[in-house]
Amino acid sequence: MERTYLMVKPDGVQRNLAGEIISRFEKRGFKIIGLKMFKITRDLAEKHYGEHVGKPFFEPLVDFITSGPVVAMVIEGKNAISAAREMMGATDPLKAAPGTIRNSFGIDMGRNVIHGSDSPASAAREIGLFFKEEELVVYNRDLDRWIY
Ligand code: PPS
Repeated sequence: MERTYLMVKPDGVQRNLAGEIISRFEKRGFKIIGLKMFKITRDLAEKHYGEHVGKPFFEPLVDFITSGPVVAMVIEGKNAISAAREMMGATDPLKAAPGTIRNSFGIDMGRNVIHGSDSPASAAREIGLFFKEEELVVYNRDLDRWIY
């Protein structure tokens, strides 16, 4: 089982897309083990996007990600990192495959509604950056109790 960090960006929250986006991961069968809404501080945003320091889009990206609340989650499941990236689609919504989240809802490279970790190393780093260990809920699904 793999874990990944996903975040509905401020544009997605402003446009009331958080539920729709969370729902796609639930329906795909992933288990949500962490979920919260908050505003990212500038300091945290600069750490999160640290690998992009010096790139022309760094400042606009930090301005954007701190501009309003985000909805962050940790999901768990088989190949969660690559499966989530596939569900998100390419960074540029114009290049994202039909039906993917960014193809369906993204406006441009900046306002592309969702972030997802791109490797096991970044997933571990980003989960640690945004969630405390006690905020991650370890539980088993016990479907026989709820459906028949
Ligand atoms: S790179 O240089 O290829 O590693 O960058 P890339 O993976 O394409 O993008 C990294 C994140 O920066 C965002 N981005 C932008 N934001 C605002 N304006 C512009 N022009 C821009 N270009 C890239 C992009 O959405 C990525 O954000 P995350 O949150 O990682 O998806």
